[in-house]
Amino acid sequence: MPGDKSISHRYAMLAALAEGTSELRNFAAAADCHSTLACMNALGANVRVEKTTVRVTGHGLRGLKSSWRSLDAGNSGTTIRLLSGILAGQDFKTTISGDASLRKRPMKRVVGPLREMGAEIKAREDNFAPLEIRGGKLRAIDFRMPMASAQVKSAVLLAGLFAEGETIVTEPARTRDHTELALEEFGASIERNARVTKIHGAGANGSISLHARNLHVPGDISSAVFFIAAASLFPESSILIQNVGLNPTRTAILDVFVEMGASIQIHSVESAHGEVKGDLAVKGTSLKGGVISGDTIPLVIDELPMLAALGPFTEEGIEIRDAGELRVKESDRIAALAENLRKMGATVEERPDGLKVAGRAAGKLRGAEIEPHGDHRIAMAFAIAGLAAESPTTVYDAECARVSYPSFYDELNSVAER
Ligand code: S3P
Repeated sequence: MPGDKSISHRYAMLAALAEGTSELRNFAAAADCHSTLACMNALGANVRVEKTTVRVTGHGLRGLKSSWRSLDAGNSGTTIRLLSGILAGQDFKTTISGDASLRKRPMKRVVGPLREMGAEIKAREDNFAPLEIRGGKLRAIDFRMPMASAQVKSAVLLAGLFAEGETIVTEPARTRDHTELALEEFGASIERNARVTKIHGAGANGSISLHARNLHVPGDISSAVFFIAAASLFPESSILIQNVGLNPTRTAILDVFVEMGASIQIHSVESAHGEVKGDLAVKGTSLKGGVISGDTIPLVIDELPMLAALGPFTEEGIEIRDAGELRVKESDRIAALAENLRKMGATVEERPDGLKVAGRAAGKLRGAEIEPHGDHRIAMAFAIAGLAAESPTTVYDAECARVSYPSFYDELNSVAER
């Protein structure tokens, strides 16, 4: 599997704040992560890309320079939200924006706590990009997050790295912890206990520095899920997916699949730099379906489009609850899923915070013309559903998959038997 998107973003940002040259291997080819690299380059880090090996030379925690042009986060929520945390700690002004989809996504969730720490931030309608961030001296805060979001947690922790004192972040439910692990790896002073994370800030006298590291990025489990789904759909199939990131805050999706009756075996587990990786052997089975809700949602948030699109192929169907966040992702994923599933003939009940997709008894899916609304995960989820539909499916603007997985269709073609 190509490198994990979330981890690649974090390694790129921290390498740019470290002293010296970091070598990041199996760095994600995802367009989103290359948006992060371009931003770090514009802020003065030296970035060299050679296929999937990226070398980033940073000039230390206080080494970023102001960029004469506005930063472009492209389609990437992680880039704009995490980088806002870093920019809040710089003593210069930066403007950061992104594509039309990103400019519609809520930023108040990071702007609020960063202002509380002392940054001056202007946002369109006080909630949307472009963001104009005038950073400076930050004070540590004790932040109780109103929502389970790894991006919000990370933005505050990254700002906390520059603040005077100890910043404390408490999450309402667990979310991916790659920022915490990467901060530890690069040498920040961080303490973790269940849903509470504390980071000791460098403050004005700069008592903390980050060190350049040589790191390997484990494969992206959120991308692997499309192949787990594809293999599960066909009884005769059997695939081995190598080098998949198995960080426990990301593997809830494997538990969901196994509970639904999927056949997944994990081999060759290794850990490095705080992250875990291994190989997944997946065989075709009949999937039961089920309900996904509550504290599981933030742990499988990016895999929900694929799960929902599997609904019509399961015995009991799939119901997703407590996932209102899906409406503010790269597209309104609840609406996009309902629209495209219905086009394929599925029976779908759309709700404010989720959807209920009827199972096999409601009839077979037919091929359809899919409109992904520029959303990579919608395009890929329906490419997989299309494999098992009765007639051909066309995914318009299928190229939007490059946001997370540029080689997706080639790799899918290479494992599909006709
Ligand atoms: C991400 C966190 C999640 C996820 C996104 C990547 C990250 O967003 O949906 O694709 O890398 O931190 P939220 O934390 O906003 O839920």
